[in-house]
Amino acid sequence: MSKTYLYTCSKCDAQFPKWAGRCTACGGWGTIAKEEETAGDFSAAKNTRPAAAIKSFAQSANEKGAELKPTGLAFFDFVLGGGLVDGSITLAAGEPGIGKSTLLAQLALQLASQGEKILYVTGEESPAQISRRLSRLTGQIPQSLHFLDYLEAATIAATLEKERPYLTIVDSIQCLRLDELPGEAGSVNQVKASAATLAGSAKRSGLPVILVGQVTKDGDVAGPRVLEHLVDTVLFLEGDQTHRYRLLRALKHRFGTTDEIALLIMTGNGLEPVEDVSSELLRDRTGGVSGSSVTCLIEGRRSILLEIQALVSPAGYGTPVRRATGIDNARLGMLLAVLARRAGVNALDKDVYVNAAGGIDARDPSVDLAICASIAGALNNTPLDPQTAVFGEVGLGGELRPVSLPELRLKEIARLGFNTAVVPKGQSKASPTGLRAMEASNLQEALKILKLG
Ligand code: TYD
Ligand code: MG
Repeated sequence: MSKTYLYTCSKCDAQFPKWAGRCTACGGWGTIAKEEETAGDFSAAKNTRPAAAIKSFAQSANEKGAELKPTGLAFFDFVLGGGLVDGSITLAAGEPGIGKSTLLAQLALQLASQGEKILYVTGEESPAQISRRLSRLTGQIPQSLHFLDYLEAATIAATLEKERPYLTIVDSIQCLRLDELPGEAGSVNQVKASAATLAGSAKRSGLPVILVGQVTKDGDVAGPRVLEHLVDTVLFLEGDQTHRYRLLRALKHRFGTTDEIALLIMTGNGLEPVEDVSSELLRDRTGGVSGSSVTCLIEGRRSILLEIQALVSPAGYGTPVRRATGIDNARLGMLLAVLARRAGVNALDKDVYVNAAGGIDARDPSVDLAICASIAGALNNTPLDPQTAVFGEVGLGGELRPVSLPELRLKEIARLGFNTAVVPKGQSKASPTGLRAMEASNLQEALKILKLG
């Protein structure tokens, strides 16, 4: 058998056929090292393995799925489609400071207050810091809420199997290491091996484990990415830290759908769910001001109304400024070009700022028309009718393209009391009574209906 070598980056796990000083995937210097890979001519070898049994899909369709056990923290259970599964391993990922520890403290308190034994492995913060957070969230910390101030993964696994806590929380996986392995805590090898050790322990004991994973803004971190395939569920807590809103969603969920989201507000008492997301997001809307429009976004199975704001001002010297918050910058550039070339709304030489209000991530092409309407309104200094909402994707030719689930969007727009909607061609059919849905086949037509063109 001939020996070939594979070169792997210790930072991002990218693989290369040749050694290089710099990893082209993550940009790390001196992170690429040789790994042995045995390869040979398998086609010639005689196969001595016995055959495995095959089964019909029709039978497995009737098999009982994993049981989701409610935790009692309603929004958490909702996103997971019911609760946690015994023996499962979940990754709770998000940027530092977004509220992961707060969320898990709330979960631990909820279960402990029902008398369940909880184990919180402390790494990111000291036990005293976590106690202070717990005290802030509750009157009296329940006796059944325990901590382990020890960061060697095999020891944690052994403790888990001996103590059998109802739930184990590890905050965070980047702090763990295995004594047998070289490398520091937080390196790809250590993170993977530690997580695998705990996953094995969770499966053997039938007890659920939640790992906290830190993600940086550019997503370049040993952790969540390399763990995705190893865990059963990936929960993601996201939001703009300058705002109060947080979105909790499942990016991967072996036991249920990834369609449910929860909108949360960071309050003095931890994360609290927002019941009526659309009215909450539209609450601070400034009526009668130019450069504002309302659109409807689909997140999971939910429709969410959202204000898109634009500000246009004369550019100083040099290249005009384009700044988008919650919207893709490249998308904004494209829409400005389409507005100028296809609809005669020229803001190309102006500074343009566009913002999805509330710090919500609106990277969905269905918000295109709202972005264009807000920019056109800002440029002409014309406020949009506050009872009108819009949705539709804008193509390079200025055409208005249909979007998914128009019925759901129209229903939500009507529910919030809007009387007019401007939508792509063919998408007005399911309009509820009381809402006049007007179709436009291109951007120019849409702006004309909105009295902006
Ligand atoms: P944290 O949960 O520590 O974030 P992460 O673990 O993701 O790094 O906390 C995030 C922020 O939330 C922090 O700035 C403090 C704030 N916070 C509140 O506003 N209210 C609360 O009840 C708590 C516990 C924290
Ligand atoms: Mg934390």
